[in-house]
Amino acid sequence: MTANRVVVVTGGASGIGLGVSQMFARKGHPVAMLDVQDEALERESAALRQEGATVLARRVDVTDRDQIDAAYADIRRELGPIAIVVANAGISESIRFLDVSAATWQRMIDINLTGVFNTVQAALADMTEAGWGRVITISSQAAQSGAADRAHYAAAKGGVIGLTRALAREFAANGITVNTIPPSVVATPMAERGIAAGTFPPLEVISQHIPIPRPGTPADIAAACEYLASDGASYVTGQVLGVNGGMFIG
Ligand SMILES: NC(=O)c1ccc[n+]([C@@H]2O[C@H](COP(=O)([O-])OP(=O)(O)OC[C@H]3O[C@@H](n4cnc5c(N)ncnc54)[C@H](O)[C@@H]3O)[C@@H](O)[C@H]2O)c1
Repeated sequence: MTANRVVVVTGGASGIGLGVSQMFARKGHPVAMLDVQDEALERESAALRQEGATVLARRVDVTDRDQIDAAYADIRRELGPIAIVVANAGISESIRFLDVSAATWQRMIDINLTGVFNTVQAALADMTEAGWGRVITISSQAAQSGAADRAHYAAAKGGVIGLTRALAREFAANGITVNTIPPSVVATPMAERGIAAGTFPPLEVISQHIPIPRPGTPADIAAACEYLASDGASYVTGQVLGVNGGMFIG
């Protein structure tokens, strides 16, 4: 992997996005971490800079295209053209389908699907100009196997998978690959919140149902991102790459 390629990671302040940001930064890439959590962004980006990494952190709500465009202008000016995008920011919540209001549905679509649209569309001009680019979206096993009480989440993530596949075809001739990673169970603050709320089983319980009997880690997902972003993965596009300990095999 050419280490000076500029990487954008949304949801970079926590969990999977933080692990992906740390991996790319430690490999020598300039990394832009975007998130709505100011304090965590500040803390985590400062820690990486202490290690000598080049990191830019911006408070960006991925539902707001103007905020994305403004942050991307800063990234281009301070780091250079965007080459790799990891559209990871997302929320999860458990609500019985019959209790999902129109506003709850819309918020889920806005963050988990339109947020990916905004994040990716705004970066593609740099990649087409360069004739090289890597787009990685983070979807979910919920869209592959279904998820009771998370229909709105599964629908949004299914949209991410469809968007990924469509973009893979549309931009293949531009040297841009577009792939998605649908995690199953990853030990992150999101998973911890679900466990605390009683809507997600404790990790030791769910691990018994995973062929490789442990939860995934942000580093597991980051390792797959490293591969998908590499020159060696130039013939891999439109794929749904399960990094899930075998929990979903399809
Ligand atoms: N942890 C899992 O088991 C799991 C499983 C399947 C899919 N995923 C997906 O992985 C991705 C990362 O999840 P995680 O487990 O690291 O969760 P997390 O809550 O630890 O991190 C998500 C980050 O996204 C940020 N974010 C939320 N809304 C945002 C917005 N509107 N704009 C910008 N940033 C926003 C949050 O502030 C947070 O820092 C999500 O898309 C999630 O749906 C996670």
